Amino acid sequence: MENFTEKHENVGNFYSTQLLPRFWELTNENQIHIGYWEGVQIGGDASVGAKKLTDLMLGKVEIRAGEKFIDIGCGYGVPGVLLAKMKNCEIDGITASDYQLDLAKKLVEKENLQGKVRFQLADALALPYANESFDGGWFFESIFHMGHTEALKEAHRVLKSGATLAISDFPKLSGMTTEDRQYLKEISLFTTIVSMDEYPKLLESCGFEFIDILDIGKNVVAPSWACYHVALENNKQIFLDMAGEDGYKFLKKTIVEFENVIVRALGYCVVRARKK
Ligand SMILES: C[S@@+](CC[C@H](N)C(=O)[O-])C[C@H]1O[C@@H](n2cnc3c(N)ncnc32)[C@H](O)[C@@H]1O
Repeated sequence: MENFTEKHENVGNFYSTQLLPRFWELTNENQIHIGYWEGVQIGGDASVGAKKLTDLMLGKVEIRAGEKFIDIGCGYGVPGVLLAKMKNCEIDGITASDYQLDLAKKLVEKENLQGKVRFQLADALALPYANESFDGGWFFESIFHMGHTEALKEAHRVLKSGATLAISDFPKLSGMTTEDRQYLKEISLFTTIVSMDEYPKLLESCGFEFIDILDIGKNVVAPSWACYHVALENNKQIFLDMAGEDGYKFLKKTIVEFENVIVRALGYCVVRARKK
């Protein structure tokens, strides 16, 4: 199935200007990732699930106080700031979106973390850091925009030997069709998509030792979409004010169409690897 490439400027433009990221910004309280759900809270507050996924990722990170961590695709900086506070480590985060960067910087100021947390605009495939700068890192729901192999090789360059890397990602399911693949590219700039089975070999080929992979697709994709339908109704006036009647209709149609594809085509996983 086809892979694509996407310039980081295009990804940045998507996150800075499109209605769909604005929707997630609002419903997930500036955590631009999907939610994690257990049990029966289906259709609840999307931001609660988003926070649970952040907690799950925070639990996967091995980093000690004072060490340096790279957040590759940092969004609004919410997960990175939480990590800095939790582990007392230093964070360098990059995003492709100037809109996100602005809010991420404001968050650092609000939390008084200047000197400890730095965010900047950069391309994940040409990281503005020297070789072996970081003791740990993550791609928190960002690697599928970048191209898995190229992004992993660049992360490998800036990580120190023995550093751990956590990745949350949408792996390909066997039900994905060629039309689904094209849709995912168009709707949300998915450049490369790999299956869970492919991860160990992929990591090895980029210089990492595979540690483990957690399959949480069932806790993530469909339950999050159930929340998005509720959020769309609950925040209808906000989206009408933001984008007008046509914009709201378009958003609603997009959420429905996206759900039809994503539940068939993609799972969700959290992967850990160590730089050899
Ligand atoms: C789905 S958002 C995740 C944001 C954040 N990790 C979170 O969980 O809130 C994807 C992020 O990856 C970033 N990104 C995607 N491709 C990129 C690239 N080539 N270079 C830099 N950042 C990139 C986007 O700018 C965005 O911040």
